[in-house]
Amino acid sequence: MDALEAVGLSKTYARRGAPVRALDRVDLAIPKNALFAFLGRNGAGKTTFIKVAATLLLPTEGTVTLFGHDVVADPASVRPLMALVPQEGKLFFHLTPREHVYEYLRVRGVSKESATSRTDAILEAMGLLSHQNVIALRLSGGLQQRTLVAMVLATEAPFLFLDEPTLGMDPFARRQVWEVIRRAARRGSTVLLTTHYLDEAEQLSDELAVVEAGRILYRGTGEALKATVGREVRLQFSGGVRPEELEPFGRVFADRDRVVLLTARASVRELTELALSRGGEVTVGPVTLEEAFLDLVGRGIGEDES
Ligand SMILES: Nc1ncnc2c1ncn2[C@@H]1O[C@H](COP(=O)(O)OP(=O)(O)OP(=O)(O)O)[C@@H](O)[C@H]1O
Ligand SMILES: [Mg+2]
Repeated sequence: MDALEAVGLSKTYARRGAPVRALDRVDLAIPKNALFAFLGRNGAGKTTFIKVAATLLLPTEGTVTLFGHDVVADPASVRPLMALVPQEGKLFFHLTPREHVYEYLRVRGVSKESATSRTDAILEAMGLLSHQNVIALRLSGGLQQRTLVAMVLATEAPFLFLDEPTLGMDPFARRQVWEVIRRAARRGSTVLLTTHYLDEAEQLSDELAVVEAGRILYRGTGEALKATVGREVRLQFSGGVRPEELEPFGRVFADRDRVVLLTARASVRELTELALSRGGEVTVGPVTLEEAFLDLVGRGIGEDES
């Protein structure tokens, strides 16, 4: 049995005038103990999927089960098995990180002893000890977000929904959170997270799905997604070449002061020498998930869109 199974899942928001089809017949199975990431641009449907799967929103069509329990028919069986970091969740202004974590565990039925030791452990792991007794009102945004993640990870629930868990965190804090999430997976939890940081998806997930316009455009490993680009090397130019000149050689992504080309190994020497001879700079490396994502989503959902 999979940890999560969605079959023909659709959600249409009845917005006056123009209904929004946020999920469009999604089929998705997430195996037990997976660390699974959703990627997709703003409005793709990631949060909607999570809300439905986490019993917060009713689907229009289709079913979702969590460990075999139907989330619509039997939410009471589902809720103890899961915990959720909502996108842009909010804390109680007058409670401290320690109180948030401890009280949340108590509400979920954890004994006092166990709640105390788990609270100590998670506050330490998330770098929150020095702020543990500061009321949320006085915490920075990143520390508030860390507190939300700490509450949810402390539950040790079998299924963890993390909707943009590292939003607004500094690079040190993000790495700390990755480690805590990895530890939860090693302990046996299944994790579904969303992120707009492609490096985070790469570091953290063992599988991912790219969501676009309410559908799953891709599902597999990050490595396999990079291979879909069909190019071997990533060249990044700063100066020396114009994007138009590179177009015959592969996929070009042009930003304000850099041009990225995904191309074949055979073109590297020629293009590097060209750019250097004109006084430009070149970096050579592997294709990244970021360009693979831009390439895939840029191609859109294709001809079968009606
Ligand atoms: N409560 C709502 N009422 C009406 N439309 C909604 C509602 N919530 C979301 N939508 C619409 O549904 C679509 C999917 O939104 P959703 O929040 O699931 O996207 P997302 O992939 O999580 O995006 P983001 O990366 O910005 O968080 C969007 O078009 C959005 O405008
Ligand atoms: Mg969202």
